[in-house]
Amino acid sequence: MQFTYADYKESADDLRARIGDFVPKTLMVLGSGLGFLGDVVEDPVAVPYGDIPHFKPSTAPGHKGQLVFGTLGGQPVAVMQGRMHHYEGYSYEEVSYAVRVLKLLGAETMLVTNAAGCVNTAWNVGELMLITDHIKIFMESPLRGANVDEFGPRFPDATHLYTPALREVARRKAGELGITLREGVYMYFPGPQYETPAEVRLARTLGADAVGMSTAPEVIVAGHCGMKVLGFTLLSNMAAGILDQPLTEGEVLAAAAVAKDKFSALVLACLNEL
Ligand code: HPA
Repeated sequence: MQFTYADYKESADDLRARIGDFVPKTLMVLGSGLGFLGDVVEDPVAVPYGDIPHFKPSTAPGHKGQLVFGTLGGQPVAVMQGRMHHYEGYSYEEVSYAVRVLKLLGAETMLVTNAAGCVNTAWNVGELMLITDHIKIFMESPLRGANVDEFGPRFPDATHLYTPALREVARRKAGELGITLREGVYMYFPGPQYETPAEVRLARTLGADAVGMSTAPEVIVAGHCGMKVLGFTLLSNMAAGILDQPLTEGEVLAAAAVAKDKFSALVLACLNEL
């Protein structure tokens, strides 16, 4: 299945009819633990994915599956409460579908968060990482297939996918809030199995600081259509093989719950300056 410009336009027109002349300046794609920000949006218009043409429901645990339009931290936003993952069975095109729809609705920036395994042994569980770059060399690109020229070029540059000026904002805000903010490279793995210890060593050898199962597809599509991107990772666990213990989803969710206040404070502070 390949989506056409007309499909994205149909989704955007459907949403436009629901939100009137509201322009969501920032698209927020929130990972484990931060989905609650969608619940504190002011004057919300929440649209279940299932009600939007061409959208797919999200099946991941802890992900609600709706798009919430409204004001957050004084900014007009659209919050994806629940993102799609390739491991759920969606194609990369489906995983990143909403990004282009939000571009058509006027979004200029994407703020993306995730929980990931910490590969860098000098860092600690529960810390936050500003994503400076990513590695996604496994599996195909979300841009595979006929290029949709309305969004961007066939061979888009990927030098500054994570917008330098926004990274600077994040550093400054973390400093003001007294939050330790690591900076590093996120390596995408398709999952749903966590990585093996050998894969984690591979990731480290390649220069990765964190490993996770999301974010990179959406960021590639956002960069293609000229959106600025700010990305944060919660280091929810040491990656496989670093500690002599198996990884569990419970550990990830528990870390997300502990980091929730600090993480949301940083995200909201940055949102104000996007
Ligand atoms: N690996 C991949 N994805 C993850 C991890 C991990 O260790 N922790 C949270 N999401």
